[in-house]
Formats: sequence, C-alpha cells, structure tokens
Amino acid sequence: MITDIINKKRLGKELSYHELDVFFNGYLEGTVKDYQMSSLLMAICINGMTEEEIFALTKIFIDSGDTLDLSFIPGVVVDKHSTGGIGDKTTLIIAPIVASLGVPILKMSGRGLGYTGGTIDKLESIPGYRIDLSDEEVIKQVQDIGVVITGQTTSLAPMDKEIYALRDVTATVSSVPLIAVSIMSKKIAGGADKILIDIKVGNGALLKTKKEAQELSILVKKIGKVYQKEVHTIISDMNTPLGYCIGNSLEVMEAQRILKGEEIGNNLTKLCIDLSTELVCMAKGVLPQDAQDMVLQAIKSGDAYRKFLELVEAQHGDITRLSISKKCKEIKAKKSGTIESISAIKLGELSVSLGAGRISKEDSIDYGVGIELTKQVGDNVKKGEVLAKVYYKKIPHLQDFEDIFTIS
Ligand code: URA
Repeated sequence: MITDIINKKRLGKELSYHELDVFFNGYLEGTVKDYQMSSLLMAICINGMTEEEIFALTKIFIDSGDTLDLSFIPGVVVDKHSTGGIGDKTTLIIAPIVASLGVPILKMSGRGLGYTGGTIDKLESIPGYRIDLSDEEVIKQVQDIGVVITGQTTSLAPMDKEIYALRDVTATVSSVPLIAVSIMSKKIAGGADKILIDIKVGNGALLKTKKEAQELSILVKKIGKVYQKEVHTIISDMNTPLGYCIGNSLEVMEAQRILKGEEIGNNLTKLCIDLSTELVCMAKGVLPQDAQDMVLQAIKSGDAYRKFLELVEAQHGDITRLSISKKCKEIKAKKSGTIESISAIKLGELSVSLGAGRISKEDSIDYGVGIELTKQVGDNVKKGEVLAKVYYKKIPHLQDFEDIFTIS
C-alpha cells in the first residue's frame, strides 16, 4: 500500500485525500519510514501536486494539531510570514509598528536553517527573551499589549515541523506546493483573520524565479479562500541582502535604528514600510496613502519603538545586554568604481561560516557574530575603502568571500 502510493505519485497521478492521510499520518505514527517519506516528497517535487491534493494535504497538516481561536480579540488580527532571506529582520520592525497603530498581531516564527536567519534566533540574542510562550500566554499578551513574537508552539501543525526537517535534508524544500502547504497550515492553525505573505525571490531566497513566486502567490490565496481567510502577498527581491546587517544581535540593533527613524531610504526600511502599510490597510480598511502616513507617523512619534520595548519587556528580554563580538575584520574594496551587486547568498554563507547560522539542526549559534555592510548597491567606492565589517569569534577565511561585491 505505502509503495503503491509512492509509485502512483512517481507516475504523476493524483493521490486521494485518503492516500495522503494514510501516508502522512503513518509517518507521524512511525509506520511510514523516513526513506519512504523522502521518496514521496521527491516524487512530489518532480511531478507537482494538483489543487485538490494541495487542499487535502493542508487539511491533514492543520488537523495534526490544534487551531487557535482568536475570535474574542477585538479588531482584525493579522499575521505576516516571509519565505525567508538574508538579513530579513522585517518581523522585528513591522510587528511593533502595526501594534502601535492598534492592529493586533500574533507572530509565531521559526529558527533559521542554512543561510536564511530565523526571527526566533534574532530575538534569542536579547538575553532573557522568552520564545516558548504557551497558547494561554500568547493569547493574554495579544490582549494586553497587542503584539506577540514567539516560537511556533508544538501544538500547531506539528506535522509541518516533522516534514520540514526531512525536506531540509532531502533537497525537497523548494517545491512550490509543499511550501504553500507548509506556510498555510501554520498560518490557518495560528487563527489570525488576515494573512500577509512576503514571498522572496532571488539568489538568496528559496524561490529563484518570479514565475515560481507568482505560482506560490496564487496557491496561498486559493488555500486561504478554502478557510475564508483573506491572504495578501508581496513579492520582494532577495538578490541583495535586506539592510546593512546580517547576524543575530547586529540585526536586532539595526531593527532598533529603523524603529527609531534613524535609517531611511534603504531597501529594508522601504520594504518594512510597504509591508506595514499593507497590514494596516488589511486590518483597518483604509486607503494605502492614509495607511502609509499612519506608519510613518508611528515611527516619527516614537510609538513604534516604544511598542518594541514593551514587547521585549513582556517577553522578559533585557535589551540593554545585547552584545556583539569585539573582534572585527574589514573587507576593503580591491578597486574603485560603483557597487553593481552585493550577493545575498554569499553573505548568507559567510554568516553561517562565522557561526551566526546553523548548518544542521543541532548546531548552536553565536549571537554576537555577523557582517555589517558599510555600502549599498549603487554607491561609489575608492580602492581600499571599507565595504563591510566582519564580527567574528574564530578568524574567518575571508578570501572565500572576496567576490561578494561586484564593482564596475
Ligand atoms: N517557509 C515555511 O514556513 N515553509 C516552507 O516550506 C518554506 C518557507
């Protein structure tokens, strides 16, 4: 029976709800083995899934755990998800902005694996910050201060956690249907009324082409419709890292600067303003220009930063103890010219090699290491000028990363 199901998918045929249910729940129960699930996942990667299969598998993932009921929280509760990128600390910035405008936001985030950093790792660089809130604590905190950023509770879509870990080591992560099922099962179980998904595309993202990003955008909206959830998407560039910093403590510090209004006009600030504006429109039903004015005012007035401090305190973090490594090496320009590109993927690889990310799930993270860019794409540089500062504990092999910057 199990091998018949694998074979059916290998031949490109559609699996029924019952077949998917038997297979995936069998995996959780231990009757379907890792090698059998890996084989089915690869067949799905190669042959894709029909919409019926995608809807069925999303339901199976959701039904593997609990679903939060947030209907008693006044107002439209929003949630936001990013498919992951280099230097992506948008959640740390957006959640306090929209919460300071009275839009409740409940964000369950993940750890990073490979070269994309996880929001939870960044928050854990704040000594004391709790990421393991119970469902009851999550609900109480949204009611009290309008914002929570915590780890994915084990009770929501536990199937995704198991399958994601296997996908990660079997080269089956970048399947658009599997990504859609993974994201939407967690988001629907999370109970928000409206969901915004930031789909990254480029060399530092899971999805390398605009076509795949558009396919994912269509799919997540269709799944949302099945559950009467409004899903909005933004497709954003991940060929260049977001902002100036990569590495956990460094990224929290950068998020603070943006929330204080100290950094304007860079790609990270622009994306955060766009995403926050979209969330405010979704929650309040206001016009985009009015929503954007509210977002800019939340930063200017200090309300957004005060909400960030309130969030950190509510989750027992001590922001005054955030620290970065004292050891620092500079990467200098080999010639004069204009910076044509900064490779997101190479910076991601460098940050993992420094210890800011994990290669395997069991690895521990060095929160104080990372890279701070001093230049952005389009800037002019002179030979010998500093392009980036590398904060390290163990001396890095920077010669492996000399072609991060393309200067013409
Ligand atoms: N983000 C998720 O939550 N799941 C995926 O499969 C990919 C990105």
